[in-house]
Amino acid sequence: MQVDVSTLSPTAAYRLMIACLVPRPIAWVSTLSADGVANLAPFSFFGGVTSDPPIVMVSVGRRRDGSRKDTAANLLATREAVVHIPDRERAAAMVSTSVEAPPEVDEFELAGLAKLASVHVKPARIADAPIAMECELERHDELGRGPVDMFLLRVVGFHVADLLLVDGLPDPACLHAIGRLGGEHYCDASATFSLQRPPRPAR
Ligand SMILES: Cc1cc2nc3c(=O)[nH]c(=O)nc-3n(C[C@H](O)[C@H](O)[C@H](O)COP(=O)(O)O)c2cc1C
Repeated sequence: MQVDVSTLSPTAAYRLMIACLVPRPIAWVSTLSADGVANLAPFSFFGGVTSDPPIVMVSVGRRRDGSRKDTAANLLATREAVVHIPDRERAAAMVSTSVEAPPEVDEFELAGLAKLASVHVKPARIADAPIAMECELERHDELGRGPVDMFLLRVVGFHVADLLLVDGLPDPACLHAIGRLGGEHYCDASATFSLQRPPRPAR
């Protein structure tokens, strides 16, 4: 199959893109509104950008009426977030927080998730999430015809559940991180294999 992008509708381009870019990590993002209402929602247009300092990118599309989603409005208003990595055990809860709820609804309560106070930022973190990254807004841009709101978030603190640690790092076999595929499909990133990289050239 060969596809000329200029022939695709926005919906067809979206479906093709999310079926090709797989698996995508999922940012499960906690934010606070200017009025102090907690919000939680997943985003798979998400990735690492730099590690010094650690910066991640989250891209938030618009609602059908063109308005900003709560996560984007909250980030622009309060400039802080906690990005969690969802695992297999919390997959259904994560998906339940993608509901299009009005801004006054707290999705932690909706999904029955307990909150824990963060250390560096005001938004709470999910009490039993395996990995949480406390973040401050580094940069925002609008991109594309949607447009989408692209956020660069600087990580100021990591929380990793002790049970996941092998040699001081989260182990994929313990973490069971989930990735988003096309449509409504997901994968569990604990099915791994290892390959050695080519040696570095001698100088
Ligand atoms: C696994 C998953 C990944 C998602 N990824 C994105 C994404 O990358 N960008 C986006 O705009 N919406 C994404 N969504 C949809 C949002 O979660 C949804 O629009 C949500 O209602 C936004 O909530 P908010 O208004 O509280 O920010 C995703 C949903 C799921 C279930």
